[in-house]
Amino acid sequence: MTQRVAFVTGAMGGLGTAICQAFAKDGYKVVAAYHPQFDNKDEWLKEQEAAGFKDFVCVAGDVADLASCQAMVAEAEAKAGPVDILVNNAGITRDKFFAKMEKDQWDAVISTNLTSLFNMTKQVSAKMAERGWGRIINISSVNGVKGQGGQTNYSAAKAGVIGFTKALAQELATKGVTVNAVAPGYVATKMVMAIREDILKSIIDTIPMKRLAKPEEMGALCSYLASDLAGYMTGATLNINGGLHFQ
Ligand SMILES: NC(=O)c1ccc[n+]([C@@H]2O[C@H](COP(=O)([O-])OP(=O)(O)OC[C@H]3O[C@@H](n4cnc5c(N)ncnc54)[C@H](O)[C@@H]3O)[C@@H](O)[C@H]2O)c1
Repeated sequence: MTQRVAFVTGAMGGLGTAICQAFAKDGYKVVAAYHPQFDNKDEWLKEQEAAGFKDFVCVAGDVADLASCQAMVAEAEAKAGPVDILVNNAGITRDKFFAKMEKDQWDAVISTNLTSLFNMTKQVSAKMAERGWGRIINISSVNGVKGQGGQTNYSAAKAGVIGFTKALAQELATKGVTVNAVAPGYVATKMVMAIREDILKSIIDTIPMKRLAKPEEMGALCSYLASDLAGYMTGATLNINGGLHFQ
């Protein structure tokens, strides 16, 4: 079998890095997609090399922009081959209580966290269906499942990710292409670890397991969803939140 190609958006962030590493260990050719304004590719590649990961293919672009996604995927196909596994992972927050939320904060979160799924998936899903095999993994959030005050934009986008997942899963069910969502709770990424210590402690106190998730626990779940043995699972939302919320 030829080496499968996995394309990960937001690859140089906390979860993205763990997902890329898990896929590399699984033997996939990994395309690490990044935003040139937000990510330092050279530094990230050095860190990956030091950790024993030498073969990442990097492509740059903006997931909120359709033309940029077209160009990123075309570049990835030229460098690595057709995309077999897509992880829609790139995301941002612009938290504000709704009374104070500006339209640009709403728009930024919806376009980066939800419209990006249209922009990216459009580039690969029909080709996966034609080849008769594919995996689409969409990163949602516990706050898309349960809602979170201060995050109407983020909760709406992440709930939208789940709706998109369920609908597309039905369309592709006979084509060998599965579509699933992962809804993480709080993960020990740089972003979460930067939360003020007392606030972070109060968050951890609300989690039944009394700890944050490890990024590699997200990588392991994506690794399973990308595997052949996950072929009967589609349209699912996998809660991985230490017991914080049950659907
Ligand atoms: N960290 C958590 O606790 C947590 C919990 C639940 C869900 N999530 C979700 O997991 C995903 C990854 O989050 P993370 O914690 O690794 O965050 P992160 O900030 O470390 O990584 C996000 C990545 O997305 C990239 N990105 C942002 N906007 C982009 C754009 N327009 N185009 C291309 N790339 C863009 C950033 O450059 C960054 O590399 C997000 O969708 C987030 O909502 C995270």
